[in-house]
Amino acid sequence: MTGWLALLRRLPPETAHRTALRAARLAPALPVPRSERLRTRLGPIDLPHPLGLAAGFDKDGEAVSGLLRLGFSFVEVGTVTPRPQAGNPRPRLFRLEEDEALVNRMGFNNAGMERVAARLARRHGRGVVGVNIGINRDSGDPVADYRRVYEKLAPLADYVTLNVSSPNTPGLRDLQAAERLRPILEALREAQARLAVARPLLVKIAPDLTEQDLAALVETAVACGVAGLIVGNTTVSRPQGLRSPLAREPGGLSGRPLFPLATGALRTTARLARGRLCLLGCGGIFTGADAYAMIRAGASALQIFTALVYRGPRVVRTILRELDALLARDGVARLEDAVGADLA
Ligand SMILES: Cc1cc2nc3c(=O)[nH]c(=O)nc-3n(C[C@H](O)[C@H](O)[C@H](O)COP(=O)(O)O)c2cc1C
Repeated sequence: MTGWLALLRRLPPETAHRTALRAARLAPALPVPRSERLRTRLGPIDLPHPLGLAAGFDKDGEAVSGLLRLGFSFVEVGTVTPRPQAGNPRPRLFRLEEDEALVNRMGFNNAGMERVAARLARRHGRGVVGVNIGINRDSGDPVADYRRVYEKLAPLADYVTLNVSSPNTPGLRDLQAAERLRPILEALREAQARLAVARPLLVKIAPDLTEQDLAALVETAVACGVAGLIVGNTTVSRPQGLRSPLAREPGGLSGRPLFPLATGALRTTARLARGRLCLLGCGGIFTGADAYAMIRAGASALQIFTALVYRGPRVVRTILRELDALLARDGVARLEDAVGADLA
């Protein structure tokens, strides 16, 4: 472990996170492998490689350019809600060191759509930036609120992610049910039609859905013109074998122990989607082998969060180097040829 990471580990998790975010603003460019094999697409968007930063790390879009300099091919800002929100009382973020996992119940703490929009509008740098949208805890009208935040932020982003899967806003995950999801997607589709430039819409889902729920969700997403799904968010389950006593804290679990569950959910989603949606794998990716397994389970692009916390920024380069070597080993000329290879 580098000295910098060891230092961050001694701080309370949220202080460490704030410090890392500040440092990211000043980050020097970290070179990542340039390889034709790694090129991929996120819906209509070309990417030099598949690895992006998941939502929640830079909720307010404070360090987008710096985070892109760490080598990510895209960064997802948010979750952003219409109004600013303090989130749950602290402590609300826990390091399960023994498990290389985190439990969080942040509860959509964010600066609100106006401040984030102002920040994104001032951004000059290049690079693909997505915005993950949510609703306030006390929202009385989810459809109208998602629409408001979409209208504000979509013009400033390369893609938009509808978050209906965070476990820390009561009732939010119920919006994944097809009959609740459809009116939201229809409202966003209508709003999208009025944008000068179309922005692909992704839906981020929980890794905890049953196959039956997933089947209904996939059909609704396809029918409503959704470009893709992110599979997925943190889990409310606690996989067997967790060693840290902090595993008992309520909230969403991320990191290594999430990987089997997330990969399984991705594989099921890919089978159901039959190539009609672009799928992003997220949950416990720490190594190139993890990344490769997610791609073979159906992902065209990937996101990480917890690996960055435990391994530091160099994990981006390490994962990509290992992934590129695995593709070369198997004679895969282009990443897309490996997408879903395990589904047959
Ligand atoms: C502290 C923390 C905050 C998060 N906040 C959000 C969020 O605001 N919106 C969201 O869609 N996902 C959020 N996530 C979930 C991550 O984007 C990701 O889906 C999850 O952590 C699984 O990936 P990982 O195992 O690589 O961390 C958060 C995760 C953590 C650990």
